[in-house]
Amino acid sequence: MGNPNRVKAESGIMRWVDDRFPATQMWQDHLSKYYAPKNFNFWYFFGSLAMLLLVNQILTGVWLTMSYNPSGEGAFASVEYIMRDVEYGWLIRYMHSTGASAFFVVIYLHMFRALLYGSYKAPRELVWIFGMAIYLLLMAEAFMGYLLPWGQMSYWGAQVIISLFATIPFIGPDLAQWIRGDFLISGITLNRFFALHVVALPIVILALVVLHIIALHEVGSNNPDGIDIKEKKDESGKPLDGIPFHPYYTVKDIFGVAVFLFVFAMVIFYFPEGGGYFLERPNFEPANPMVTPDHIAPVWYFTPFYAILRAITFDIGPLQAEFLGVVFMGGAIAVLFVLPWLDRSPVRSMRYKGWMSKVALLLFAISFVILGILGAIPATPIRTAVAQLCTVLYFAFFLLMPLYTKLEKSKPVPERVTG
Ligand code: HEM
Repeated sequence: MGNPNRVKAESGIMRWVDDRFPATQMWQDHLSKYYAPKNFNFWYFFGSLAMLLLVNQILTGVWLTMSYNPSGEGAFASVEYIMRDVEYGWLIRYMHSTGASAFFVVIYLHMFRALLYGSYKAPRELVWIFGMAIYLLLMAEAFMGYLLPWGQMSYWGAQVIISLFATIPFIGPDLAQWIRGDFLISGITLNRFFALHVVALPIVILALVVLHIIALHEVGSNNPDGIDIKEKKDESGKPLDGIPFHPYYTVKDIFGVAVFLFVFAMVIFYFPEGGGYFLERPNFEPANPMVTPDHIAPVWYFTPFYAILRAITFDIGPLQAEFLGVVFMGGAIAVLFVLPWLDRSPVRSMRYKGWMSKVALLLFAISFVILGILGAIPATPIRTAVAQLCTVLYFAFFLLMPLYTKLEKSKPVPERVTG
């Protein structure tokens, strides 16, 4: 019965299932016989942690939805009701709001690993592209989620971001109105953001995560040495430098999860607002279209891009600074998509790349952090100049990559993984 080419259990209930659904085959392909390189290190914790956080966001989100009221009149009060009256509502909300920040910490470390070890390079371009699509949608998801508590920063943050669309020549103002569904941000905007945040985007993100993993398992995981473990196999065809994902890496990941949950619980119980960075102070006041907060800044995970937006203070020809800022901000994200084709190095891992790649990655990481800090604080002329310098460094990392990865001399890559 079923597909005779599949691996099946000998007998019993599993055999009954396998004749109808490739359960044993999938278990083997993705876990017990998925050979992962034996030299995974600290940086390889973050994929499984990202999955954990996705599940956390979905579960806590479902529970929040049970008591949240997605209307301009009721949203703010319903969040207060969750915090004060719903049993453990405060815990569920903090797991969700602090969870969003934790998600981005994990995702940024996960992405940085790919930069360190060249995991985006052939044959993993699609793993990277699916990852970038997830990243883009996660940003949209977080942005829409932030409007839902209907606090001052929810309102004014959305006001700033939606008016960015209005700077696009010709279609801008109509586009912004289409996004809002109204002439200004209103309960209508809140309703549609709620629908997208709770239903549409999570479905697409989940589907993309499945595609991300299928693409990864098709070509196999990269590793800190960036070498192909499938090239050296024993007589039975198993990679010499590979170990079955289960039980070896399931156990390793459970350790990562335990450490993560410890830190996550500490933040939730003792610093749930992250000093005003995870939940900003003006968001404890209800949205008021008549009063602009003194200082509007996005949540920390958007601030590097916000700093790039504000760094563009000059017009170029007929193009206005505001629009150019949007182009640069969009470009800063778009350029990441083509990364696999910018890197011309014969090797993947930073361990074997030349000094130019190392310096470039270091400067990139430093400028990204500085941009993140600058995006969170009010602009001054000096800070804008620093942001401009960091914007140049940010783009130079990518745009000069075809040059320096080709020019530099890389080190010979070992035959087998080094640990
Ligand atoms: C919900 C978000 C995400 C989830 C659940 C997720 C999950 C995973 C998992 C489980 C792995 C294998 C384990 C590991 O390498 O740590 C992985 C690998 C990978 N991910 Fe993600 N990921 C997410 C987002 C992203 C993003 C945003 C990017 C980059 C733009 C990305 C790029 C990669 C790459 C390049 C690999 C292969 C790494 C290697 O083999 O060295 N992922 N991902």
